[in-house]
Amino acid sequence: MPAPPLIGYTHVGKTFDGGRDAARVVAVDDVSLDVAEGEFLAIVGGSGSGKTTLLRLANRLIEADGGSITVEGEDVRNVDPILLRRRIGYVFQSGGLFPHISVAGNIGVTPKLLGWPAAEVATRVDELLDLVRLDGAQYRDRLPHELSGGQRQRVGVARALAAKPRIVLMDEPFGALDPLTRDALGDDFRDLHRKLGLTTVMITHDMTEAILLADRVAVMRGGKLLAQGTPAELTGSSDAYVGELLRTPRRQAERLGALLPRDGAA
Ligand SMILES: Nc1ncnc2c1ncn2[C@@H]1O[C@H](COP(=O)(O)OP(=O)(O)OP(=O)(O)O)[C@@H](O)[C@H]1O
Ligand SMILES: [Mg+2]
Repeated sequence: MPAPPLIGYTHVGKTFDGGRDAARVVAVDDVSLDVAEGEFLAIVGGSGSGKTTLLRLANRLIEADGGSITVEGEDVRNVDPILLRRRIGYVFQSGGLFPHISVAGNIGVTPKLLGWPAAEVATRVDELLDLVRLDGAQYRDRLPHELSGGQRQRVGVARALAAKPRIVLMDEPFGALDPLTRDALGDDFRDLHRKLGLTTVMITHDMTEAILLADRVAVMRGGKLLAQGTPAELTGSSDAYVGELLRTPRRQAERLGALLPRDGAA
């Protein structure tokens, strides 16, 4: 029998009240999706397609109103949401750091809540700063607003990893960064994913980033899962929207190949 998925969605649905007089919004519509242990899955789709909702259903920041979700083989409805969130690292779209707490305080927040002794929390914070390549002596006592956007994102990743989760969920973790920083952070995270044996689900708007970082890509549109597979498998999709999403990275690669001679100085 194949190993059960680390995260499993089966016919999951979620609708929201659209507010006064407005129709209900079907944010996630009958989605079935398995994430295998050790896998790096990217979720790609336009604004409002249901990506964040799908991610938040896994750690019960939102409750599903149809279907079922399992994490490490357990139906999430049977797991205390607080305990569930401590087992799953979450990187928020905007970094989501506590603004009045230092870098060290932000990274150590979950271990502290779990009752780790102060000395162990401090050691873990230094270890994590190393892991995300921030100089501890320089940065551990700074406040989030004293960091660059890329440094804040690194702290967000460190915080998500603090309690040694097996699963990390990331909501556009590298958005709003310059392309070089974005590329470097993406590569660094991919290395961490492998080194720590994580199972990662990452949301991104950017199909090129998804193809470069993930083992498999899931495409969302209007709450539905249109396609899922390795980049090579996606190219076989007959769906017009999936084709459209894949054309951009293809065209970029072709244009770059033509514009940048291979034997250039850089
Ligand atoms: N708490 C909520 N109450 C009402 N509607 C919501 C709520 N959260 C999300 N929605 C709606 O559900 C749909 C999906 O939203 P979601 O945040 O999952 O999209 P997304 O794919 O993450 O978009 P983006 O790329 O812009 O972050 C949208 O139409 C959104 O307006
Ligand atoms: Mg979102």
